[in-house]
Amino acid sequence: MNQKEYWNQVSATKEFTTPFHITEFEKYVGKDARILDVGCGYGRTLQELHELEFRHLAGIDFSKGMIERGRAQFPCLDLRVQETEKIDFPDESMDAVLLFAVLTCIWEDSDQKALVREIERVLKPGGVLYVNDFLINQDERNKKRYTEYAPRYGTYGVFELPEGAVLRHHDEAWIQNLLSGFETLRYEHLSFTTMNGNRSNGFYFLGKKVSVRPC
Ligand SMILES: C[S@@+](CC[C@H](N)C(=O)[O-])C[C@H]1O[C@@H](n2cnc3c(N)ncnc32)[C@H](O)[C@@H]1O
Repeated sequence: MNQKEYWNQVSATKEFTTPFHITEFEKYVGKDARILDVGCGYGRTLQELHELEFRHLAGIDFSKGMIERGRAQFPCLDLRVQETEKIDFPDESMDAVLLFAVLTCIWEDSDQKALVREIERVLKPGGVLYVNDFLINQDERNKKRYTEYAPRYGTYGVFELPEGAVLRHHDEAWIQNLLSGFETLRYEHLSFTTMNGNRSNGFYFLGKKVSVRPC
């Protein structure tokens, strides 16, 4: 099963759980901001912003099932199916981008880098990126599956679910490398409950797009 098929298959049933630190977000992003949620799922985070009277909101997700569920559940939201890896918004058109529990679905370094580059492209200079995602765990269940799948995927922390999806828990050094083009506003460790009801290490990151990348 490919990744998109998996997310379509579970689109009616999964509830996503990574927390949104809205108070921290509001320190940097005002109600008039244009905000894009990349890999928005069924739109739960955008709905929270909508209820707080943020108005320029859009969400994209490569799973048609997720978008259809979101449109039915939250009809006020602008939710769109993302057809290609390119984000279908102009350069420097967004004040803020959300990326919640999406990196975990993209196991390859190069694909994660390409997505972050696209996000940088659509963000205005000084725009804010808010990421949350999963970090490597040290418990036996996780260590066993990381070790089992490391030879196949070439990265410790990548594993398959029994249903066929490939997920990644990240090494912190990789996350720092991936997000190094942003000036860090906030970085914190968290402990999440996953969509499958387990506990996992995680983080959240708020960063600002710097106008010119250092050489
Ligand atoms: C764990 S869910 C999180 C959804 C949402 N961000 C939230 O926190 O409620 C991951 C979502 O990312 C989407 N996704 C995974 N890989 C993607 C990609 N390469 N491009 C766009 N969406 C993707 C999936 O379809 C799924 O809806």
